[in-house]
Amino acid sequence: MDITKADFFKSSAKAEQCPKPDRPEYAFIGRSNVGKSSLINMLCQRKSLAKTSATPGKTQLINHFTINDHWFLVDLPGYGYAKVSKKLRSGFSKIITDYLGNRPNLMCLFVLIDSRLPLQEIDLEFMNTMLMNQIPISIVFTKTDKLKKTEFDQYINNYKSQLLEHWEELPPVFISSSTKRNGREELLSFIDELNEKW
Ligand code: GTP
Ligand code: MG
Repeated sequence: MDITKADFFKSSAKAEQCPKPDRPEYAFIGRSNVGKSSLINMLCQRKSLAKTSATPGKTQLINHFTINDHWFLVDLPGYGYAKVSKKLRSGFSKIITDYLGNRPNLMCLFVLIDSRLPLQEIDLEFMNTMLMNQIPISIVFTKTDKLKKTEFDQYINNYKSQLLEHWEELPPVFISSSTKRNGREELLSFIDELNEKW
């Protein structure tokens, strides 16, 4: 599958304002600045469909994009950025938890992880909460272009081992670079398979 059409649908300040859950949906989440909006642009091959910024905290609303007139990609606000809200440091903002509790059409939540960092408490806590709530997650390592291939294999393997200290098995794992466009085909074929199950 390729993305031939990508349109901004709407921005929602509250979960109740989100579009009707009438088609398969895929959302991107992770710490502020991890590269969520950039990944959406890379998948859609559009420079600024989703707004990006070098300053963390850019995406503040729930942004729905209609893809191929048939499914939604969703750009979510980041978590873990202290300046946005004190709450984000320990818990997750209401907009995120409300959204996640109200999307029966969410086929997969892609949790983005900066490939240069070891397992962070906040990401583990977030993913554990998702697993407890039976929200299907996948992990996407981002910004892999910032590491050499050998370094990067080591970082990813370390990360997986750290996760396996907490979990019995790993969810699907993808590696990506928005600048080098790596991971696009793998992510799109995964989405395609899930779309078939709708
Ligand atoms: P918030 O909306 O603030 O939560 O951030 P975000 O997760 O949407 O991140 P965004 O896509 O805005 O990217 C943050 C910064 O990282 C920007 O300066 C991007 O250009 C940069 N960036 C994102 N992805 C990549 C990548 O794959 N490689 C490199 N080198 N830089 C990236
Ligand atoms: Mg963003």
